[in-house]
Amino acid sequence: MKPSLIQKYNVPGPRYTSYPTVPYWEENDFTYEVWISSFRKSFAESNSDQGISLYIHLPFCESMCTFCGCHKRITKNHGVEHPYILAVLKEWSLYCKMMTTTPIIKELHLGGGTPTFFSVKNLEDLINGIFSYANKAENCDMSFEGHPNNTTREHLQKLYDLGFRRVSYGVQDYSEKVQKAINREQSFHNVAKVTFQAREIGYTSIGHDIIFGLPFQELQDVVDTIEKTKALQPDRIAFYSYAHVPWIKGNGQRGFKDEDVPKDAEKRMLYEVGKTILLENDYHEIGMDHFALQTDNLHKAAQNKTLHRNFMGYSASKTQLMVGLGVSSISDSWYGFAQNTKDLEDYYQLLEWDKIPVVKGHLLTPEDLKIRKHILNLMCQFETSWENESDYVNEFPEIIEGLHEMINDNLVTIEGKKIIVTEKGKPFVRNICMAFDLRLKRKMPKKKVFSMTI
Ligand SMILES: C[S@@+](CC[C@H](N)C(=O)[O-])C[C@H]1O[C@@H](n2cnc3c(N)ncnc32)[C@H](O)[C@@H]1O
Ligand code: SF4
Repeated sequence: MKPSLIQKYNVPGPRYTSYPTVPYWEENDFTYEVWISSFRKSFAESNSDQGISLYIHLPFCESMCTFCGCHKRITKNHGVEHPYILAVLKEWSLYCKMMTTTPIIKELHLGGGTPTFFSVKNLEDLINGIFSYANKAENCDMSFEGHPNNTTREHLQKLYDLGFRRVSYGVQDYSEKVQKAINREQSFHNVAKVTFQAREIGYTSIGHDIIFGLPFQELQDVVDTIEKTKALQPDRIAFYSYAHVPWIKGNGQRGFKDEDVPKDAEKRMLYEVGKTILLENDYHEIGMDHFALQTDNLHKAAQNKTLHRNFMGYSASKTQLMVGLGVSSISDSWYGFAQNTKDLEDYYQLLEWDKIPVVKGHLLTPEDLKIRKHILNLMCQFETSWENESDYVNEFPEIIEGLHEMINDNLVTIEGKKIIVTEKGKPFVRNICMAFDLRLKRKMPKKKVFSMTI
């Protein structure tokens, strides 16, 4: 990739796990009652034929990785587990009270923080508690994020027995100097052990998360990490761009200096080389940042054009309604988003008052719904079209104007009423989506809120 292209397009931009992106939510129009009615409507429309998705945020970690952008609370006190599980189940029961039929769970993901911080018994109580009010859909996709340092065989076996078939492990990078800088010491031996154990038990999709652009990371570190990863043959690999957003996460990310973080062409080279190795070794590029073996259902979904993207990242099927439980979780009714409080004490307090702990959100306008669809198409299919009249927005001439430079640079092409991202354009898909982001165009953020696109 030409350095001049990187210079031109490396700007702050959203990762588009939602549209509108969180900084553009119109919080003034959002109320608790509005969210509840949006939730009820979406549930009534979609539960019986699609089922619903459930995301459960488990925020605790034993130690702080200094690169981490996730919402977490660091503690070594495992006494926090039980009250938290009870609170999540209370939240779920409040949602269930508003449902007219038994919910059918199509997709369930435990994210964090570190789900494997919790004991096997507490996780079992959590899952059994959820399903005491719900039915499991056929082919329900149940997954969790496991930390290689504290995922035990017992965790893997119990979660498998409860229906989990997919696990993703945080690997990041194997080099000692990088691990030291990010305060995450973790051996290849541990990762290999938990990978083999999951496979032995019968998990059908094992994922590894790797990051490029970490502090002090050099090309050889990425090559070495990918070589080691490939030796373990995970079904999926998330190859994330390090999101350096110290202004949001405060001191946690300031364990190293800005100058220690690879940037621009140097950072992009880490990706290009890593991607080349993956493509040469049977991994297929799926959407943004994701690779999968042909046998993984994410690859099949990409082929069948059923790939979807939500706050959990990419998923193989789409549900209209996603309920996010736990501190900081975001729910999506398709017509609206709602985010729970990020403050653990407030989370407990609101639940004690029998309130679903949502504190902010956004209701999508008819224009938002159309733009959201185009952005999802681009992120998941690398193309979108307005062949259906209902997909047309009046601002299309303006959007196409915004794509002009990218068309000249051969990153996108327009064929009739279709926009197609070229092979060369795939690394710039966030920039291409930004041309569709009418809210961003109308008002650029006043302060730094997004990481760089490249
Ligand atoms: C919640 S963590 C994974 C589970 C577990 N806590 C662990 O660390 O193994 C989810 C993933 O998000 C990714 N991640 C976290 N912070 C990031 C950042 N600033 N930039 C890019 N990826 C990040 C990491 O790859 C991480 O494995
Ligand atoms: S990377 Fe995982 S273990 Fe580390 S702080 Fe973030 S959520 Fe916790």
